[in-house]
Amino acid sequence: MEPALLVKNISKVYGRGENRVVAVDSVTLALERRELLLIMGPSGSGKTSLLSMMGCILRPTSGEIYIEGRRVSALSEADLPDVRRHALGFVFQAFNLFSALTAAENIELVLRLKRVDKARSRAIAMDLLARVGLTKRAHLYPADLSGGEKQRTALARALAGDPPIVLADEPTANLDSKTGKEIVGLLKGLAEESGKAVAVVSHDPKVEALAHRIALLEDGRLIA
Ligand SMILES: Nc1ncnc2c1ncn2[C@@H]1O[C@H](COP(=O)(O)OP(=O)(O)OP(=O)(O)O)[C@@H](O)[C@H]1O
Ligand SMILES: [Mg+2]
Repeated sequence: MEPALLVKNISKVYGRGENRVVAVDSVTLALERRELLLIMGPSGSGKTSLLSMMGCILRPTSGEIYIEGRRVSALSEADLPDVRRHALGFVFQAFNLFSALTAAENIELVLRLKRVDKARSRAIAMDLLARVGLTKRAHLYPADLSGGEKQRTALARALAGDPPIVLADEPTANLDSKTGKEIVGLLKGLAEESGKAVAVVSHDPKVEALAHRIALLEDGRLIA
């Protein structure tokens, strides 16, 4: 079977002339179902750029991306939201929660966009929030949540719609050690129990301890 996600020779170049930065340099990497892949590397080594291209949020300058065997890098801008919505759950470094919506509403919104009806959206949102231990916080707005609670809300939102691929950028960075452990356990469970393909960018030894495989970036290149 083809990998859940495959990037082939992808590169990302930002800027021109003196400002030209090769953020990702000819990386080839497969992400398998049931796998928790950890992407590591120093600050500025291209981790977020790579993950964003894997998540079809950022277009590669060159190279190809395949999701479940389908070449998505060839798709037009108009077709990408559909791919993102059905195949991918993305947890951003900066959460990207809507500040005017409560934790529950942030998740319901994603489901409503997938045309799930209102009552069911609410039920699924509450179920997801329970899985990340936020039942009691569901009605709060992001401004009233701690960093860890925001992170957990963002993870719950990424899981709405049950995507086969989950990508998370520094998901434990703002969490206390106990909450961090819970999130890592949750991510590992997504891979091992739910069969998802999970890739995580992190510096956290807790993630390293549980990851199945590590991809190491340096200056945009995959060195291990
Ligand atoms: N939008 C952008 N425009 C120009 N340069 C960028 C842009 N985004 C990232 N870069 C540059 O590309 C390189 C890789 O950045 P990236 O954010 O992918 O690294 P990172 O490994 O995620 O770093 P960190 O650990 O600090 O989050 C860096 O040199 C960065 O300055
Ligand atoms: Mg980053």
